[in-house]
Amino acid sequence: MPGFMSDHPSILFVCLGNICRSPLAEAALRAAATKAGIAMEVASAGTADYHVGDPPDLRAIAEARRHGIDISQYQGRQLQMRDFTRFTHILALDEENLADIQSRAPTEITARLGLLMDAVPGREGGSVADPYNGDAEDFSRTWSDVSLAAEALVKRFAR
Ligand code: 4NP
Repeated sequence: MPGFMSDHPSILFVCLGNICRSPLAEAALRAAATKAGIAMEVASAGTADYHVGDPPDLRAIAEARRHGIDISQYQGRQLQMRDFTRFTHILALDEENLADIQSRAPTEITARLGLLMDAVPGREGGSVADPYNGDAEDFSRTWSDVSLAAEALVKRFAR
């Protein structure tokens, strides 16, 4: 869980359902930060409440497993008002997610809002495509995107 008084970054990834893209982003950044020896709090949430309490999509679990990471115990949760002051950064997976987050932000917000792909040189302003109605290949593309971003975030926070 994010440390309220901690001085290290705490990152919340937000997509729509919190069962496909943001859990994979969470897994990728946690793994990259651990590998780099950087202290970071990482979590994920959805703008919608469709999958509160649910495990990630089976295809997301399978994709993470292909990269040696077990996300089967993750549980879907919805973005909450307190997240805007609990995290240092709230990073949206796509532009629609970002617009949703911005429209809900309280005036006392302390977290920085942005797009996940803004971290990747050449991919600024880009979205991570929603793989929900796709196939395993789409989930593999999601992994490529979120792992690129995770590496970039680790580099940025290592400075
Ligand atoms: P996610 O994908 O936002 O990457 O978790 C989706 C998951 C569920 C739904 C849509 C997108 N849904 O409509 O239930």
